[in-house]
Amino acid sequence: MKVVFEFEVKQRDGRARTATFATPRGQVTTPMFMPVGTQGTVKGISPQELSDIGSQMVLANTYHLMLRPGEQLVEAHGGLPGFTAYPGPFLTDSGGFQVMSLGHLRKITEEGVVFKNHLDGSRVELTPERSIQVQEALGADVIMAFDECPPYPAERSYIQASLERTVRWLERCHTVKTREDQALFAIVQGGVHEDLRLQSLEATLPFATPGFAVGGLAVGESKEEMYPAVAFTASRLPENKPRYLMGVGHPEDLVAGIALGIDMFDCVYPTRTGRFGYALTDDGRLNLNSSAARTQLVPLDPECDCYACRHYTRAYLAHLLRAEEMLAPRMLSLHNLRYLHRLVERMRDAITQQHFQAWAAEWSQRYFRGNV
Ligand code: GUN
Ligand code: ZN
Repeated sequence: MKVVFEFEVKQRDGRARTATFATPRGQVTTPMFMPVGTQGTVKGISPQELSDIGSQMVLANTYHLMLRPGEQLVEAHGGLPGFTAYPGPFLTDSGGFQVMSLGHLRKITEEGVVFKNHLDGSRVELTPERSIQVQEALGADVIMAFDECPPYPAERSYIQASLERTVRWLERCHTVKTREDQALFAIVQGGVHEDLRLQSLEATLPFATPGFAVGGLAVGESKEEMYPAVAFTASRLPENKPRYLMGVGHPEDLVAGIALGIDMFDCVYPTRTGRFGYALTDDGRLNLNSSAARTQLVPLDPECDCYACRHYTRAYLAHLLRAEEMLAPRMLSLHNLRYLHRLVERMRDAITQQHFQAWAAEWSQRYFRGNV
């Protein structure tokens, strides 16, 4: 089945844009934030809840699922939608980044990476060919090229050698890919160096993949380094293809990224910080572990329409958190995901109404004042 992953820009406002992106499991509207479901579940959140809060596409990880339960089991369920009961579009990351970030890396060669299985200590090899094979079995709508995300900081010469190898890996991914109902996105690397970003871009663009990701960022560099790298890369990517900023981010990063022309984001931040007892709001991040929260008879965020904000007080949720009741991390994760979805919804509206810049300035002023 030949599927055209049509990306149609509806409106532009400065460099920001809103668009629709057609995938085999439905059309999504960008800019969008993708919840992270590493193990085939967004921690603590059911598929029904994801749909209710406006999730459009869910991310899952090749690295974790190939090790456990193994991609064949997922394939036996008809892929991720059958396995997880989330019927909408999925995106899978390719595995290279997780091998690095989980720190059990043994060796990177031209062939691929060899690492120690973090579950049983066994030797595992991940190559561009194997990554695509696994991602075809998992059956996501969007799959990612196998790349290397160098650590920060890294030697310039290392970043250059690494991005060149990532381009050769992209070519191998492109060659072995068999399914036409999956969009393979290329990943631009190059750290925070403009000339290396340009080199990566120029080598990657000819593959004319249906989308491009900006990788290698939010790995420890400052925002003063990250934003210019995003600006530079995004401004040189094609206008008519989705641009995905990987592993980002915080609310202010979504506002900054959308201003620079980014269309897609993913990050563990909303669910992870939620499990730790923090709630995202327009006035900054609320700490439910604080003694002040224990007596506040107001919702987490009076402006939010999520289940937690419609039913519970901060005091109740702070109580659940202290009592280590599982409803607390669940409700905080649900709220934080809804917060980010609503944040991008508001930005889509601002772009449509052509007042994105004013909206972003107002949002930032309030957010950084931090009056939670
Ligand atoms: N997630 C966050 N950053 C990256 C990256 O550079 N590459 C991949 N594959 N995944 C990521
Ligand atoms: Zn809420």
